[in-house]
Amino acid sequence: MQEQWWKKSVVYQIYPRSFCDSNGDGIGDLNGIESKLWYLKELGIDVIWLSPVYQSPNDDMGYDISDYQAVMSEFGTMEAFDRMLEKAHSLGIKIMMDLVVNHTSDEHPWFVESRRSKDNPYRDFYIWRDGKSGGAPNNWGACFGGSAWEYDEKTEQYYLHLFSKKQPDLNWENDSVRKKVFEMMRWWCDKGIDGFRMDVISLISKVPGFPDGPVGKSGYGDFGPYCANGPRVHEFLQEMNREVLSRYDLITVGECSGVTVEEAQKYASSSGHELNMVFQFEHMDLDGGETFKWNMKKIKLSQLKAVMSKWQTQLYGKAWNSLYWCNHDQPRMLSRMGNDSPEYREVSAKMLGTCLHMLQGTPYIFQGEELGMTNYPFASLDEFRDIESIHAYQEFTEKGIISPDEMFQYICYKGRDNARTPMQWDDSGQAGFTTGTPWIGVNPNYKEINAKEQMGRPDSVFCYYQKLIALRRQYDIIVYGDYELLLPESEEIYAYIRTYGEEKLLTVCNFTDREVVFESPDDLKGRNGRILISNYNREDNQDTITLAAYECMAVYYGN
Ligand code: GLC
Ligand code: CA
Repeated sequence: MQEQWWKKSVVYQIYPRSFCDSNGDGIGDLNGIESKLWYLKELGIDVIWLSPVYQSPNDDMGYDISDYQAVMSEFGTMEAFDRMLEKAHSLGIKIMMDLVVNHTSDEHPWFVESRRSKDNPYRDFYIWRDGKSGGAPNNWGACFGGSAWEYDEKTEQYYLHLFSKKQPDLNWENDSVRKKVFEMMRWWCDKGIDGFRMDVISLISKVPGFPDGPVGKSGYGDFGPYCANGPRVHEFLQEMNREVLSRYDLITVGECSGVTVEEAQKYASSSGHELNMVFQFEHMDLDGGETFKWNMKKIKLSQLKAVMSKWQTQLYGKAWNSLYWCNHDQPRMLSRMGNDSPEYREVSAKMLGTCLHMLQGTPYIFQGEELGMTNYPFASLDEFRDIESIHAYQEFTEKGIISPDEMFQYICYKGRDNARTPMQWDDSGQAGFTTGTPWIGVNPNYKEINAKEQMGRPDSVFCYYQKLIALRRQYDIIVYGDYELLLPESEEIYAYIRTYGEEKLLTVCNFTDREVVFESPDDLKGRNGRILISNYNREDNQDTITLAAYECMAVYYGN
């Protein structure tokens, strides 16, 4: 397997709005990030993935960009960005930018021009169609509610928006669009940034003809079959690779909703003509259902293992994996598959970390995950800021598909705002995030869960993550070893073995709050395994172990 720096890296995602506010306006900013780089250095991560910091009207919190080459004024200035980048580099930390080019904001000058007239030179930068039988061109629903088509009176046509109506989709079929996007990317690369996380990049190529999709509970058709991994997506990414990516030394990850293992082998092939890796969604979608993600379903461990194992084994040697439990679009994994009660919060956070970080691929940590931050205790609708939760609540309750009480529970449990509450730095007011009024509520548990307290306590979740990250540097087997799942049917234990030449690494995780017995596989019995990390300070490895609640360990069998 070819050695590459991004294979050995650990990435940390910053959601800038909620990371650190330097000027008391309640909104995180670039100076705030710069002031906390020492913290990330201390944690030991290699790369920061910065969620969008570009100019944006914030309909979707920065994922609706009105100028790709300017910084959102709330976040600071381009000078502040440059200083932050330079400081990060001086600490040996790389910066991966979010690239949102499936769509722009409707306030982007390209779209402002495009909607002016049918013969405007920018008309074709977006996807305009005539209506059909007095309605939209097809039945597709948008991710944030309603139809995926918005009627524009001026020119009497509809434009496509897979997300909100303030996020019109770019027309990638148009050569000029691709040229402009690639130019913009080179501009950032020339500035010295180190990579791109590509927002919903699997959706950029749509099936021509825009066929109706299968109708779901919401009453709209699913655009997925005609947009995800569309007909020209690999061609477009290969062109992007030739025109931009291959000219620099970058880390690239594509956010690929709807991606299968077979497709990922193309996007992230080791031959390197497209991207380094993709974010797949199969494990995150396991608790989805008829009403999309809105329910209280619990993920079955055996299913989680089956999905993770499929990706581990089928990409091995062919493509590269990314590993994540959390990001700004997901509720906190600790509240989803761990246990966020005071009794088990720390052990289960460490267990989830171990389970993920001993796998094959590049791990991503979402801000606060390294502290065991939890979901937020929402008490009313007006505490939500996210367009997705707010629209879903309206749509599902108004149509009578889900009752208001139930739907409120669902958005509390699954809403994206759970990830977006401010980073908990210390036990001072507003968790040390701001001296002003935060744009979204601070989780009241910040007095117990905060960085300051944990950095000074050797058995904290923070110190445990430091160790997980350090182990990846020390042991090549974690980076390059292959993977074999043990006990596939168990609903209690997730155990797997990595193998690299003569070396073996056994990871065992108890996903329950009960004691569970684990027996080593025969070929490891009697061998002198060394425990590399354990969330109960276990030191002696044994062939048969009674695991405590949420206990985990990684055991190394060297030569
Ligand atoms: C991606 C982003 C998400 C955003 C959406 C539309 O899924 O991660 O936050 O809402 O794309 O840009
Ligand atoms: Ca600020």
